[in-house]
Amino acid sequence: MYHCLCRGASSLRSGSSSKVFAPQELHRQVTHSMPQEKIEIFKSLERWAEEEILPFLKTVEKSWQPQDFLPEPSSEGFYEEIRELRARANELPDDYLVCLVGDMITEEALPTYQTMLNTLDGVRDETGASLTSWARWTRAWTAEENRHGDLLNKYLYLTGRVNMRAIETTIQYLIGSGMVSAHSRSLVFLGFLI
Ligand SMILES: [Fe+2]
Repeated sequence: MYHCLCRGASSLRSGSSSKVFAPQELHRQVTHSMPQEKIEIFKSLERWAEEEILPFLKTVEKSWQPQDFLPEPSSEGFYEEIRELRARANELPDDYLVCLVGDMITEEALPTYQTMLNTLDGVRDETGASLTSWARWTRAWTAEENRHGDLLNKYLYLTGRVNMRAIETTIQYLIGSGMVSAHSRSLVFLGFLI
């Protein structure tokens, strides 16, 4: 799918040969029902997660931000910085850009991943601001991840080398489609404990 998103690819320039894939909807409701004993095990690990997992999260103050790597829009040299960025980007092979676009689209579907984590029994952030270890980790992980898509999106936009509208359309399809986990009950263990 991603190969058609680079401006270097002829299929996009023509516009006529790109296929549009409609979102696949599932018409059955899955109610998560991890066995009670597993929920109890997971809840008993709250303190462990607090002490062993949460410390891995970097503070906001120690985290890089997308703007650290991008031209500063308030500076007088903004346009010159963009010219330099574009000159460097012009040297990049299409293959590199395709990889960046694929990564960026994946990163930008972050709402889907947070939703997935919040469907897991024992992890679910019931209020949206729950103070359980798992909920705090999920929110902080999402916030940390959000920087990746932001940086890639802005960088690729500034290069002028990719078809942003096609990318944005793909992201909208991707988030709108959601993601189904075939093993949602055990994913809580696979995702956090194994
Ligand atoms: Fe990421």
